[in-house]
Amino acid sequence: MKNIWIIANWKSNKNIAEALEWISLVGPKLPRKDNLPAGRQGLKVVVCPTFSVIEEVKKAIQVGNFPLMVGSQDLSPFDEGAYTGEEAAAILNDLVELSILGHSERRQNFGESDEMVERKTAQAIAANIIPLVCVQGQDIPIPSECNLVAYEPIFAIGTGNPDTPENAESVAKKIKEKVGQEIEILYGGSVNSENCKKFLEQEDISGFLIGKASLDGEEFVKIIDCANSLI
Ligand code: PGA
Repeated sequence: MKNIWIIANWKSNKNIAEALEWISLVGPKLPRKDNLPAGRQGLKVVVCPTFSVIEEVKKAIQVGNFPLMVGSQDLSPFDEGAYTGEEAAAILNDLVELSILGHSERRQNFGESDEMVERKTAQAIAANIIPLVCVQGQDIPIPSECNLVAYEPIFAIGTGNPDTPENAESVAKKIKEKVGQEIEILYGGSVNSENCKKFLEQEDISGFLIGKASLDGEEFVKIIDCANSLI
C-alpha cells in the first residue's frame, strides 16, 4: 500500500476568517483514521496557509480534533538569529509538520536557487519538519535528505492545463530511478476533482500538491474522497 498525500497550497490567499470557515467545512468531512478498516491508514491530508494564519488554523484543527496536518509554504535557509523577516525552522516546528520548498513561484519571483532549496531542506530536517521539495522537471536537483517531492511542470500551474497522467508517471519513474525507489512523488498543476483519479491510478504518483482547487473546501473534499476510495 502506498501513502496518498493530499496537500493544499493556499499560496497568498485566505485571511483568518476565510481560513477558519474552510477548516469548519473540510475538517468534519475528512475520513477519520479510527473509522478506516485496518490497512487503510495511508491518507495524509495537509493544509499550508500563509504564515500569519497558521496558528489559528492549527488551533481550530486541535479543537475539532480533525485528521489534518499543517504545513508552511516556505522557511528560512538560516538558523534563528539576525535575519529580519525570516521564519526559522526551529521556531516554525511548534506549528507545522511539513514545509513546501522550492516552489516554482518562489524560484521565479524570489530568485530561489537550487542551493537555497538545499539549505532550506537541511533546516527543515534539523527541525523535524518534513521537506516537500518542488521540482519542475526530472533534471532539477533533489537534496539527498528529501523523501517527498512534488513534480509541478510550470505550464500546468494555475493554467487549467495539467500534464498528462502518463507523462507525470514517466517523470516520477525517472526521478525514482535517479534518487531511489523509496522517495514519494506527488503531482501538482491544475489538479481538480475531475482529473485526480487518473493521476492517482498511476503506480508512482503518491498524491497531489493542489493550489486553486484547494481554496474551495467542497472541491478539496471531493479530491480527498476520490483518494480515499482508491486506498
Ligand atoms: P494549481 O497550483 O493547482 O493552482 O495549478 C499548484 C501549485 O502551484 O502547487
